[in-house]
Amino acid sequence: MEWKAAVIGVGTMGSGIAQSILEAGHRVVMISRSEESSKAGFERVSAGIDKAIAKGSIKIDGKEELLKRISISAKMEDIADADLIIEAVAEEIKVKEEVLKNGELYARNDAIISTNTSSISIGLLATALSTPERFLGLHFFNPAPVMKVVEVVSCSKTGGSSIEKAKKFIADIGKKAVEVKDSPGFISNRLLMPFINDSIKMLEEGIADKEGIDDVARLGLNHPMGPLQLADFIGLDVCLDIMKAIYEQNSDSRFIPAEMLKELVKNGKLGRKSGSGFYNYNI
Ligand code: CAA
Repeated sequence: MEWKAAVIGVGTMGSGIAQSILEAGHRVVMISRSEESSKAGFERVSAGIDKAIAKGSIKIDGKEELLKRISISAKMEDIADADLIIEAVAEEIKVKEEVLKNGELYARNDAIISTNTSSISIGLLATALSTPERFLGLHFFNPAPVMKVVEVVSCSKTGGSSIEKAKKFIADIGKKAVEVKDSPGFISNRLLMPFINDSIKMLEEGIADKEGIDDVARLGLNHPMGPLQLADFIGLDVCLDIMKAIYEQNSDSRFIPAEMLKELVKNGKLGRKSGSGFYNYNI
């Protein structure tokens, strides 16, 4: 089956998800707030395809063929013929609720509606919709075109056929779907955030320097990046927000953010995107 997906939100995740869908031979419409941001999203996809071509990771068509299957729009009504909708806007409950509600108005009756949230409860977002049985989480990882797994997160209202359809979509874009029940941080951030938080606490305690902590994770545990490098890559503000959101849901002290993380974010040191975090970057 050729899927027609709609991705709402054209930031790093939205454009990476759109690129993954294109590379697997499907169609995608990217929806943004304005013509300008739609164009910026398109440029991000185009640059991502260049990287994938340079790495030899695109298996099917050339760039021109891939880009024929993407359209961009600033109008929500252009999601109307999509089989599946993925919301990937800012990680704020109010913003996501508004976008999901609006999306539901224009979505085809049988379309799956999903969110790429990494920390907000799926059950909570479902309450914004009048058809929650077709709603679930599709949690992609950054960089989306490279990472091979997606968490398929269902809440008590999600229908079984919606989960099956979403899993088929994930398989059809060449990724592994892992089913998860709605719970704070799902699998990924329940594992990852305490790991990152602990590594920051070790740095605070002077147990080792940042390079040492990252080297042990990279060379001793075979992680592609150390936890402090990864925190910079994800964005320190994003890590802080995820920890806070999970702590609000489960009151587990492992998610109380380390002081150093709060301090860095307060000082605008957000990781790679701001030029500095635990490390310095050329941007
Ligand atoms: N399409 C688009 N971009 C691609 C690409 C492709 N097919 N293949 C590689 N790239 C990008 C990489 O992202 C990287 O981007 P920058 O230029 O911004 O650095 C660049 O091309 C270089 O890629 P390389 O493969 O040459 O570099 P690498 O071997 O160092 O791999 C990496 C980079 C894939 C990011 C690797 O270091 C890695 O896997 N790191 C761990 C990433 C990770 O854990 N991600 C999950 C984060 S958690 C999350 O996303 C969920 C959440 O809720 C917080």
